[in-house]
Amino acid sequence: MTKVVVVAQAGRFQREAELLSARLNCPVHDSDAVPEAHFRISVGDTLSVVCGSAKNAYNVYVDFDDMRIRQRRQAGSKDLLVRACGLHKATHSVSSIVDTTAGFGADAWVLAGTGVQVWAYERDRLMYELLENARKRTMFANDAARLKFIHGDPAAENQEVAADVIYMDPMFSGGLRKALSTKNMMFLQEWLGSDYSLDDQSRVFRWALKQARNRVVVKRSDKAGFIDELKPTFQIMGKTHRFDVYQRG
Ligand SMILES: C[S@@+](CC[C@H](N)C(=O)[O-])C[C@H]1O[C@@H](n2cnc3c(N)ncnc32)[C@H](O)[C@@H]1O
Repeated sequence: MTKVVVVAQAGRFQREAELLSARLNCPVHDSDAVPEAHFRISVGDTLSVVCGSAKNAYNVYVDFDDMRIRQRRQAGSKDLLVRACGLHKATHSVSSIVDTTAGFGADAWVLAGTGVQVWAYERDRLMYELLENARKRTMFANDAARLKFIHGDPAAENQEVAADVIYMDPMFSGGLRKALSTKNMMFLQEWLGSDYSLDDQSRVFRWALKQARNRVVVKRSDKAGFIDELKPTFQIMGKTHRFDVYQRG
């Protein structure tokens, strides 16, 4: 069975589907003749991925309008990540954040909702395409100006970034974890597999400690140890996960 195919939802999306298939380096099919494939990337107004087959198939896309994300944006300074980044105080001095692990963009979108500038990096090409599609589909100009998605790894080649806070949400930090929803997490685990090794987390973390002006924030599942076994300055505890905060400067 082919692993990945790109499919146009209708004839008018065929050209877009062809361009995407070239960027993702996988075959493209029109909607009439879709071969069996574990991942079917569906190009329409909403870019989505159908994963699995028959009754076990599920569909994912980036949804900034998801109810849980809206609730987090409305919670403002009560949101645990917003607190961990130091944005809850009326007179905070944080103006820029680098999110090193954009994923489905939920955390980046919540942080941008506080008014700071967010650069969210995603190194996987398909995840980046899903994020960009949602940005174009749903964001108003002022939000889009505050949140930029960048395809790539910010820590590659030790590049310099000027950010007050650097945030990382590694996928595997000791057991499976509920993120945005089980479906999105399941998809990331199926799509990315073991691409995100512990060594890799450590490399990004060490880079972040050198670059962040104010702090590095690391999301961990509640039972996981410290990243790189380094004790944080303080922690913000949630029910299933926590944020370890490493203060700099
Ligand atoms: C657990 S998800 C992040 C979920 C995200 N916090 C959210 O709110 O949707 C981790 C994501 O980070 C990406 N990633 C992992 N390491 C990266 C790196 N070094 N640079 C850029 N992206 C990375 C993975 O491809 C994956 O999509």
